[in-house]
Amino acid sequence: MQEIEKAKIELTALREKIDYHNYRYYILDDPEVSDAEYDHLLQRLLHIENKYPELIVPESPSQRVGAPIEGGFNPVRHSVPMLSLENGFSEKDVKEFEKRIRRLLEYTNTITYTVEPKLDGLAVELIYDNSILKTASTRGDGYIGEDITSNAKTIKSIPLRLLSPQDSLKLPEHIEVRGEIYMEKKAFQQLNKEREKQGEALFANPRNAAAGSVRQLDPHITARRPLMFFSYGIGLVSGWEFASQIELLTTLKSWGLRVNTEHIKECANIDEAIGHCRYLEDIKHDLPYEIDGAVIKVNSLEMQKNLGEKSRSPRWALAYKFEPTQATTKIYSIDVQVGRTGALTPVAHLKPVEVGGVNVSRATLHNQEEIKRKDIKEGDTVIIQRAGDVIPEVVKVIKAKRTGKEKPFHMPDRCPVCGSQLAPPDDEVVIRCANPGCPAQVTGGIKHFVSKDAMDIDGLGDKLVDQLVGLGRIKDAADIYHLTLEDLVPLDKMAEKLANNILTAINNSKKTTLSRFIYSLGIRHVGEHVATVLAKKFRRFDSLQNADKEDLLSIKEIGPEIADSILSYFSNNKNISFINRLFEAGITIEEMPLEKELFKEHPFSGKLFVLTGALSTLTRAEAKKLIEEKKGNVSASITSKTDYLVVGKSPGSKLARAKDLSVPILSEEEFLTIAGQE
Ligand code: IVH
Repeated sequence: MQEIEKAKIELTALREKIDYHNYRYYILDDPEVSDAEYDHLLQRLLHIENKYPELIVPESPSQRVGAPIEGGFNPVRHSVPMLSLENGFSEKDVKEFEKRIRRLLEYTNTITYTVEPKLDGLAVELIYDNSILKTASTRGDGYIGEDITSNAKTIKSIPLRLLSPQDSLKLPEHIEVRGEIYMEKKAFQQLNKEREKQGEALFANPRNAAAGSVRQLDPHITARRPLMFFSYGIGLVSGWEFASQIELLTTLKSWGLRVNTEHIKECANIDEAIGHCRYLEDIKHDLPYEIDGAVIKVNSLEMQKNLGEKSRSPRWALAYKFEPTQATTKIYSIDVQVGRTGALTPVAHLKPVEVGGVNVSRATLHNQEEIKRKDIKEGDTVIIQRAGDVIPEVVKVIKAKRTGKEKPFHMPDRCPVCGSQLAPPDDEVVIRCANPGCPAQVTGGIKHFVSKDAMDIDGLGDKLVDQLVGLGRIKDAADIYHLTLEDLVPLDKMAEKLANNILTAINNSKKTTLSRFIYSLGIRHVGEHVATVLAKKFRRFDSLQNADKEDLLSIKEIGPEIADSILSYFSNNKNISFINRLFEAGITIEEMPLEKELFKEHPFSGKLFVLTGALSTLTRAEAKKLIEEKKGNVSASITSKTDYLVVGKSPGSKLARAKDLSVPILSEEEFLTIAGQE
């Protein structure tokens, strides 16, 4: 036998072994071999692949970290929309949920449920074709997400290949696995500690840290972030059928996907389900990850199908939300922060306390009104709470603990940063510094401009911006593009290599997207979502700049307040010259492609369909016309060439034949969902 043939056989065996040990370690949390033995296998694999690079396959365990992604993430359309969940907050809500189900299904026997911890991370979809991980995407708006395949591959608990358990060799040809990418509480704190040392902005919570890590263009960075994955559901699947949610979860686990089986419970009735929700709420602090509730799902998939969905959420599931986490601590002092819009926010400095696994030493007091309403004083003992991703806040003062030494707090008459006059509260509550040149507003604006979701200039953290502004080296964000190595190297904790990296990041940020650019400007009321809406609508920056009120108000999401804020921004000469200086510095904006151009090919295009059974919403002829409009073809009988069988009520023998030949099967609903895509 030739050397290369031998190498091929050894590689196959090595990959199988490594995949298996990964499964034991990352999925079952029960390794069979020592780290040294595992490393030995991996080294051997790398050695052979190094010698025969032509034998490397994308799903090899060596291929977890790939090349940086050029030009941003591509859009991915979900073949079945990724819905969200309806929330319930009490036992009563859960009972109502069951009542509605009984009414809709006209069903009186007991209904079984699964109850699953609701992880606070980000929802993703993994597509496996013939067992190989082909695409990973974020949820996005539920219909279109972003292609994060290279980053997902770096997550060890996401298998690159599904395993086939001994008892059933067959795996589905196509399966869309859904689940949550998240970061454990400890790992999150460690990451923030490191970022603080580097002068980088801290993540507010594990969820933001996970989302920020997944949205890195360089998979090397994602690979260093301790991300994990749990699967909890599926989208489209072909060549496999499940009867219940619990069967689905156990099957996913047997294929090597990570499932939170330790805390998921199959419940015989709704009371048991409520019991398990309560149990999860009880133990949530002891879990290594954050959960913000429990998800109750009707166990039977047939019932799920019959219940269907409302506009944004399925009728067969309910998110039972927990009470936000609270803790008691003391306010050392209160001071006032000036944000990038000049808004003055009183902030309480607290005796550090752990709230739901996160260390908290500051809480927002919102504004003077809130302080008055809650009667908060310096030195008070207070209850604070953290809910999901919001900044911790003071819920109430424990007045019984007062000693009489507490000091009342008053908002200053002048800006605590620049000393200038304050503008009277515009909406009765928020007091603003009226000086646009106030250093707090200037640095706030620059920090916003360079941040992850804006121009994403990696390495230019808050502390660096403070230094550069303090030294007078930059007066606004446009000055960033004129920084040189000589400007950076003398700064605190700066080495030449880091300085070079920052300059590269600055340079790379020059090529950007319209939505990022709009968001970066920091126009009041224009957050990420509005920026994206504006980018989609205007497609070119000058069109937005020249838009009048009518143009703006014609957009559904935009009301008069946002429109006025945009118009006032563009009518200010200082802003116009700032924008011109950005373009002079070399900022280029990719034109937004039209929605349609994002997906030139309809998924039906070039595909061969067979129809069987009666469809409930359209006739055979209408279905045929629909397929042909999208450039697909219809034939009468199933062969190995058939791409899809569409199944209606009382299907004929074609269904069995399609199953024999492993032809993917679409329900009417699935067919219509895919057909509806542009
Ligand atoms: S099921 C159609 N199960 O919660 C059902 N979601 O508000 C959709 N989540 O976007 C999701 N744990 O990110 C489901 N065990 C679980 C979950 C879960 C966390 C998240 C998911 C989703 C959000 C829904």
